[in-house]
Amino acid sequence: MSFPLKKSLFAILASCVLLLAACGTNKEDAGNKENGTEAKKVLNVGTEATFAPFEFMDKGEITGFDIDLLSAAAEEAGYELKIENTGWDAMLAGLQGKQLDIGMSGITIKEDRLKTYDFSVPYFESTSMIAFNKDVKINSAEDLKGKKIGVQNGTTGQYSAEDIVGKNSSDISKYETAALMFQALQSKNVDAVVTDIAVALEYVKNNPDNGVQTVGDKQFDAEYYGFAFQKGSELTDEFDTALNKLFENGKYEEIYKKWFNEEPNLKSLQEAANLYK
Ligand code: ARG
Repeated sequence: MSFPLKKSLFAILASCVLLLAACGTNKEDAGNKENGTEAKKVLNVGTEATFAPFEFMDKGEITGFDIDLLSAAAEEAGYELKIENTGWDAMLAGLQGKQLDIGMSGITIKEDRLKTYDFSVPYFESTSMIAFNKDVKINSAEDLKGKKIGVQNGTTGQYSAEDIVGKNSSDISKYETAALMFQALQSKNVDAVVTDIAVALEYVKNNPDNGVQTVGDKQFDAEYYGFAFQKGSELTDEFDTALNKLFENGKYEEIYKKWFNEEPNLKSLQEAANLYK
């Protein structure tokens, strides 16, 4: 190889190295959330947005308590969110397949789910509730026996119903979304649905003319919502820190009051946090 060629090859190589190095720093800068001038990292969030007041569509926008809370936490942690109405099953699959960073859907923290996903600290206390057509007689969970029951597939409402009437009961119809479950109730394809308390109450509030009543039962355990992350994700700790900040600085309380018109019980959330961590 003649000397000038060697020299120019060296020059090319050297500029490649410089170019790569430059690319490297650019990338780092873009992902650097300490640096306020650079774009924040965008996290992909999946949800099932037929679950008012936690997540629902309003004039084409996904809105609700969960959206306000997760957005405040993301702001605190220095991230931007891209929220998509993926549906329940696709949300969970997306977390497992690592296409999604966060599952936001009033998701109950459960031991078996903790094997597959990480969860944030608990941010809402819930329990199952029965919503039923007023022409059927239901005074307690036991009265679900012999009734046609609708649930959202793969949710704690399904498990609560199964605890009463049996896991393989043909009286349980499973729907893909909370909206389809309520539609089945409205069109009397089922006598009752079992869902989360705040969602049952919100449905009745928003549909006062549908003749739907609600009843709870001590048999239904307390459950706690958490945001779900990929197993082993570093985001879990970052969002826990952010959420704890919101519990302390009054922001959580503000968001809670906006959606539920009452004071949150922060102490019970605190106690629940010790159950899962
Ligand atoms: N909390 C219940 C569960 O985790 C139901 C959640 C359903 N959420 C929804 N957005 N449809 O099983």
